[in-house]
Amino acid sequence: MIYNFDEPLDRRGFGSVKWDALAVGVLPMFVADMDFKSAPPIIEAIQEKIDHGVFGYGRDLDFPGVIKKWFQDEYNAAIQENWIVVLPAIVPVLAAVSHLREGPVLINTPNYHVLLAAPLKAGKETILAPLKNTNEYYEFDFADLRSRVRDDVQLFYLCNPHNPVGRVYKQEELAELSAFAREKHLMVISDEAHCGLVYDRPHIPWFTVDAWAAEHSITIMGPGKTYNIAGLPFGFAVIPNQKLREEFVTTCYALPYPGILNVAAAKAAYGQCREWRLQLVEYLRGNRDYLEKRLGEIAPAANYTHVEGTYLQWIDFRPLGINDPYRWLQEYPKILPNDGKPFGMEGYVRINFGTTRARLAEALDRIEENLKKI
Ligand SMILES: Cc1ncc(COP(=O)(O)O)c(C=O)c1O
Repeated sequence: MIYNFDEPLDRRGFGSVKWDALAVGVLPMFVADMDFKSAPPIIEAIQEKIDHGVFGYGRDLDFPGVIKKWFQDEYNAAIQENWIVVLPAIVPVLAAVSHLREGPVLINTPNYHVLLAAPLKAGKETILAPLKNTNEYYEFDFADLRSRVRDDVQLFYLCNPHNPVGRVYKQEELAELSAFAREKHLMVISDEAHCGLVYDRPHIPWFTVDAWAAEHSITIMGPGKTYNIAGLPFGFAVIPNQKLREEFVTTCYALPYPGILNVAAAKAAYGQCREWRLQLVEYLRGNRDYLEKRLGEIAPAANYTHVEGTYLQWIDFRPLGINDPYRWLQEYPKILPNDGKPFGMEGYVRINFGTTRARLAEALDRIEENLKKI
């Protein structure tokens, strides 16, 4: 079946964070959800539960088996079903896990603003370590990490694929990070929410990097980004180490069960939506290439990443003489991006290109028109 990601959808009036709080005429390109309909198996799975009409706490005993097969098919990774801990979402877990170990959390900047803030919201300290930025190619800076890490640090928060800089880390980078974590006795919490949306190389789940990484980590994934079901929150952690898994379950005791609809959607996503995802990735790759090409034409002086994964473009328009790009984009082209500041990098904006090509073209036309007036 061929899926049509060009289908124009009017999302206003359907209770969407992205579309419903905006002035008419403003294009929302901020929060990370996409303007695409969900895959048909997801809609059918939810429909079945709706027809049944009872919405209790959700659990599907077949879900771990579906995930085990998915890891085998997608990553050639053999996992055990009991490594999986089902979660009601990813975000609440990011704060809770900071209590797994004493001391501050080491984390790179820029970073997904919620991941960055989660330990602070949970009353923990963070140690911020900037990624090395070489012409908008962001990498771990091990010399810098070594200079910042303290003896009381026991946790490192990783985001891969990296929101907002769009990196999909290579095996050698992850292996070096694992060696660093081992040397400094750090447990790695790896947020891999965007793992299904990669363009230039396969995603590598953290627990598959090496044996040490597997034993000293929590890998967190969920269907919200890849299958565009952020409004049906759900997630799961992969924790091969049994003792750590038990500690994790105790630490996350206050989290609720996921809802019945959410479990059904997640199971359908991982079990039946591979073809939909592959077509989506091709569509998003086209959007990425189009966006990059247009930026090269209309704003060659801007600094922007080559996105390897996610549908998020990280851009600095300040070299064009725009002092506050976040405000300028709202005021002139009437586009709402995310402000880079909460991600730990002021001056940048994050633009969500998970939309139709036509809408992306309209956003770029508006930017082009207004740049000409500067
Ligand atoms: C890296 C990352 N993790 C987690 C989330 C949110 O996950 P959830 O909505 O499933 O809790 C996002 C959303 O943008 C994200 O970018």
